[in-house]
Amino acid sequence: MGKCKVATLLFGVFFTLWFMLELQVEARALSSLDREIEAKLKLLNKPAVKSIKSEDGDIIDCVHIYNQPAFDHPALKNHTIKTIPSFLLDFEPSSVRGTLNASSEVFQLWQKSGSCPKDTVPIRRIQKKDLLRAYSLELFGRKPPYGHSTTNNTNPNFVNLGVTDDYINLPNRSESHLTAYGFRFIGASANINIWNPNVEKKGDFTTAQIWLKADNGDNFESVEAGWMKDSYYTTGCFDVTCAGFVHVGSSTALGATVGPYSSQFNQQYEINIGIFWDEDGNWWLNIKNGTVIGYWPAELLGNLRHTASLVQWGGQVYSDKVKKDPPHTSTQMGSGAAADRRFGFACYMSNIRIKDNSKSLKYPQFVSTYADEPYCYNTLNDVEYGKDPVFYFGGVGQSSPYCP
Ligand SMILES: *[C@@H]1O[C@H](CO)[C@@H](O)[C@H](O)[C@H]1NC(C)=O
Ligand SMILES: *[C@@H]1O[C@H](CO)[C@@H](O)[C@H](O)[C@H]1NC(C)=O
Ligand SMILES: *[C@@H]1O[C@H](CO)[C@@H](O)[C@H](O)[C@H]1NC(C)=O
Ligand SMILES: *[C@@H]1O[C@H](CO)[C@@H](O)[C@H](O)[C@H]1NC(C)=O
Ligand SMILES: *[C@@H]1O[C@H](CO)[C@@H](O)[C@H](O)[C@H]1NC(C)=O
Repeated sequence: MGKCKVATLLFGVFFTLWFMLELQVEARALSSLDREIEAKLKLLNKPAVKSIKSEDGDIIDCVHIYNQPAFDHPALKNHTIKTIPSFLLDFEPSSVRGTLNASSEVFQLWQKSGSCPKDTVPIRRIQKKDLLRAYSLELFGRKPPYGHSTTNNTNPNFVNLGVTDDYINLPNRSESHLTAYGFRFIGASANINIWNPNVEKKGDFTTAQIWLKADNGDNFESVEAGWMKDSYYTTGCFDVTCAGFVHVGSSTALGATVGPYSSQFNQQYEINIGIFWDEDGNWWLNIKNGTVIGYWPAELLGNLRHTASLVQWGGQVYSDKVKKDPPHTSTQMGSGAAADRRFGFACYMSNIRIKDNSKSLKYPQFVSTYADEPYCYNTLNDVEYGKDPVFYFGGVGQSSPYCP
């Protein structure tokens, strides 16, 4: 008890939004629980060189780069932090400029209150209230597993990244995405429109994200990044709470709130997110104009260390009230508006790019759209001759009569 179970860790990295739903903390002030919480906090939070208090109540600890939680992972005991590949440093800012009328003046709220010194990385501190909100201490910090585990990877360090017999039909998850098929993807990116969708209840969450996946025999593994909104109950492994992701940048904290967000008829905000492979098999995460956040180290990867075979852009709603008999969850996907409402209403991904052996960023050649529950959350790939395609996705969730 107390340790993040890497066996069911899903490799995801998410920025959460500003204005997360504040919920009443249940009074469960058992003294044994208190002690358990203290012990867990001590395990999760690393000593800080400096701490920054954000307006939203978050505390950002500037942790020495070699003290970061990644090194709790047994396979990373002797890991030397990689230098940022030059292709990421040479990133051309104009390549992330979208063609839609949206602002990319997006930042993290805590950045208004300070910055982290050299050789430290910003880590969002896990506070007692986070653990009290988590519906189970044991589960804290874990994105719920995809399904039952059947993994038997020969790599002893392999992290079971969510295993399922059925690739597409994941329990309790409703997805809507654009998929690109290929052999050897070595990167993907997009400008992701930022919204503040409604989340119905504790345990539910909703994301807008990019997935890069690789087959591992009868299962798959993925690296994922994007923004998520939850009701503050499941926060955790999306960022660096579960050891594995190696943070290198000092400007951006994972799991901290990002904003501002878009609203209907008003200014749209977007953030460019890219995930790129290096020749040692690490996957790097960067945002905006080439701000490198960190990487998923090759040591923890199976086939994904060699390239990805599938890239997806879109949204996911997690709830025990999806893909079942009514009532459906009213947790929204994207902006909460259906995809055919288009720009200014529906959530979009623009500037969709993949990188393959040609090393250049380009729009994927073969794509298809998919929605688990098209009557609840749909998709629209808006392709107009001579223009960069824009992928819209989302929906309101429960709404009679289509999604009862
Ligand atoms: C780390 O290095 C030590 C000493 O060389 C070695 O015994 C140990 O197996 C290494 N651990 C990993 C995970 O590589
Ligand atoms: C995984 O494979 C190894 C070697 O083939 C075997 O000994 C072990 O029992 C397997 N584990 C599971 C959970 O199937
Ligand atoms: C771009 O969006 C802003 C905010 O909604 C608006 O004020 C402006 O007129 C728009 N510009 C164009 C060219 O549509
Ligand atoms: C990239 O964005 C960061 C943060 O907004 C800024 O400090 C930096 O100057 C930008 N770099 C370029 C090359 O535009
Ligand atoms: C899905 O939800 C049901 C409750 O409806 C729960 O019993 C089950 O454990 C959940 N499965 C997953 C994989 O989250």
